[in-house]
Amino acid sequence: MVQIAIDGPVGAGKGTVARLVAERLGILYVDTGAMYRAAALIAKRAGVSGEDEVRIAKLVDQAKIELRQPQGEERDGRLITVIVDNEDVSWKIRTEEMSQGSAVVSKHPQVRAVLVQKQQTMAKKQSVIMEGRDIAYRVLPEANLKIYLTADEQERARRRFKQMQERGIESTFEKVLLDIKWRDAQDFGRKTDPLKMVKGAWLLDTTGMTIEGVVDKIVRRGKNL
Ligand code: DC
Repeated sequence: MVQIAIDGPVGAGKGTVARLVAERLGILYVDTGAMYRAAALIAKRAGVSGEDEVRIAKLVDQAKIELRQPQGEERDGRLITVIVDNEDVSWKIRTEEMSQGSAVVSKHPQVRAVLVQKQQTMAKKQSVIMEGRDIAYRVLPEANLKIYLTADEQERARRRFKQMQERGIESTFEKVLLDIKWRDAQDFGRKTDPLKMVKGAWLLDTTGMTIEGVVDKIVRRGKNL
């Protein structure tokens, strides 16, 4: 079985790249950020404050969170289908509120422990390409290939802004750049498992590269695993 770990900051293109590599290699794509977003949604729906670590961890532990490649009508531009207790929440977790909520719930060690366990269980059953922030050093420390995917801040903001325009979401470049800076501060500043590059990881700076270029590079290495 193959395990490919991708870590990196918001807007580096982890999701798009991982999804395409997964298709080319015929393995499962696991978006761990989607699971933290699902945790934020679960907390909100239960009326639990994002700061209530113990209750959120318990609710998330009890929830059934499934990830799968979009099938049939689910192919509506999403990268992955997310099912929480049999409900499709794939788009409900993509709002600005859930972006911020997920940054809050992901601070809690107990919530992380519950989700890391679910992620490890997924990777036991099949070959995976898993992306997030702590994959190489926490979730899959034995991964065959560890990638740290990044791009400079301006480029990440440009990509995100373009993606929002394509989806008809109104914003400005300046707002998107500010949001990227805020989310970087949360990711790098987290007390538990902050974003970092592990020793031996492959640093892939995608500034100025096309998606296809990045995917080709990874697939070439992935095929030799
Ligand atoms: O990649 P994303 O924006 O969907 O991630 C949502 C939030 O979850 C973000 O605040 C970072 C956090 N996260 C994390 O702490 N650990 C992961 N493995 C993945 C995401």
